[in-house]
Amino acid sequence: MSGSRAIQTEPVRSLSGLAVITGAAKGIGLGIAEVVAERGMRVVLVDTDATAGEAAAERLRSSGLRVEFAATDVCDIDAFADLLQALDTHDPLEVLVNNAGILRSTPLIEVMPDEFDAIVDVNLRAAFFALQAAARLMLPRERGAIVNISSTTAFQPATILPQSVYSTSKAGLKMLTTAAARELAPHGIRVTGVAPSTIDTPMVRDQATDEQLRAHVAAKVPIGRLGTPRDIGEAVAYLVSDAGSYVLGHTMVVDGGKLT
Ligand SMILES: NC(=O)c1ccc[n+]([C@@H]2O[C@H](COP(=O)([O-])OP(=O)(O)OC[C@H]3O[C@@H](n4cnc5c(N)ncnc54)[C@H](O)[C@@H]3O)[C@@H](O)[C@H]2O)c1
Repeated sequence: MSGSRAIQTEPVRSLSGLAVITGAAKGIGLGIAEVVAERGMRVVLVDTDATAGEAAAERLRSSGLRVEFAATDVCDIDAFADLLQALDTHDPLEVLVNNAGILRSTPLIEVMPDEFDAIVDVNLRAAFFALQAAARLMLPRERGAIVNISSTTAFQPATILPQSVYSTSKAGLKMLTTAAARELAPHGIRVTGVAPSTIDTPMVRDQATDEQLRAHVAAKVPIGRLGTPRDIGEAVAYLVSDAGSYVLGHTMVVDGGKLT
């Protein structure tokens, strides 16, 4: 082999088709939407926050991206399935990203059943039925990719604040990713996950002060910075692309080295 051969770099792979991203009015979901729309997908942002969702879609459209907003609560299983079905009749659903999630930080001893149910409802139950609804549409075409946004707390409990219910829900989502991948892979549907750690979003800013975040990064994050929503978007874009076509059932940790 000649040592003078130029290093070949892979071109950024383009994507196409329709992607639906839940919880995408802000934070990680919006970062994912931005990246996959830039790669060529038509993207529908789904969120309960219509004001932020409409504004986000408008901002991305003004950059020339194909982005719309749909106000839907993912916990309304039938409404979300109906939305997917309606979208799919015009443009086949290629990608679903189950990103909507909520975090409550309550000491385990004080958690009440209502709080437990609310967290599991969004983070696990809604994600399960959204995945099922998407898979029902993708099955006849034998084509599609579904990404579940879990958390590093599915691997190791959070260190900043108590999050026993949240961690449990995210561990369930990680197993759903594996179980669904195994059942759906023979039908051409790839299910994968991403486990972010501390990403700079409204969810994190609502829970921790600047000082807590600085101390957390210094002590726990080898790369020395918080993650960005686009860091997660890049991982999702890879997982749903042809470049990631042999990756199934895996939840990719994107954490600046925190779990190392
Ligand atoms: N930020 C982090 O550090 C971090 C780390 C690990 C995992 N995650 C996960 O990533 C995902 C996004 O987190 P984020 O930090 O961007 O959160 P965020 O709170 O900043 O944004 C979440 C969005 O989801 C929407 N949403 C919540 N419940 C909904 C519902 N029932 N139906 C539709 N939309 C709903 C909210 O309105 C909001 O716009 C969540 O699943 C979260 O658990 C985040």
